Amino acid sequence: MVGTMQATICPEQGSLVAVVAWTIGTAHQGQGLATEAADLMASWLRQQGIPRLRAHIHPRHAASMAVAAAIGLQPTDTMVSGERRWEWG
Ligand SMILES: CC(C)(COP(=O)(O)OP(=O)(O)OC[C@H]1O[C@@H](n2cnc3c(N)ncnc32)[C@H](O)[C@@H]1OP(=O)(O)O)[C@@H](O)C(=O)NCCC(=O)NCCS
Repeated sequence: MVGTMQATICPEQGSLVAVVAWTIGTAHQGQGLATEAADLMASWLRQQGIPRLRAHIHPRHAASMAVAAAIGLQPTDTMVSGERRWEWG
């Protein structure tokens, strides 16, 4: 085990949204593992029919923003507890 990927699926406006998050242990970072795992998770969620993905990322967390962009999430103007909301769908 080198890290975790999580998706919390919530009802919203008659539909579903998956709020996603990721962590990779420091010894294993910088090898593309978060990008690979997040891509697999996002693909699986879409296959399950989840129409919207969302993440909340601190605006100074470059690595996490790169992971979000790599799976197609786009930054929004919404800030939640100091973190920017990124969304797809
Ligand atoms: C965010 C995190 C999961 C990234 O894991 P990782 O396996 O190292 O990520 P990857 O190797 O897939 O790299 C993803 C991108 O981040 C970039 N990156 C990696 N480490 C970086 C760093 N320290 N600073 C800037 N960019 C970095 C990579 O170059 C890559 O960008 P690219 O695709 O444009 O080349 C990891 O840093 C982490 O667990 N951080 C602590 C927990 C956390 O903050 N989670 C996010 C909560 S929203």
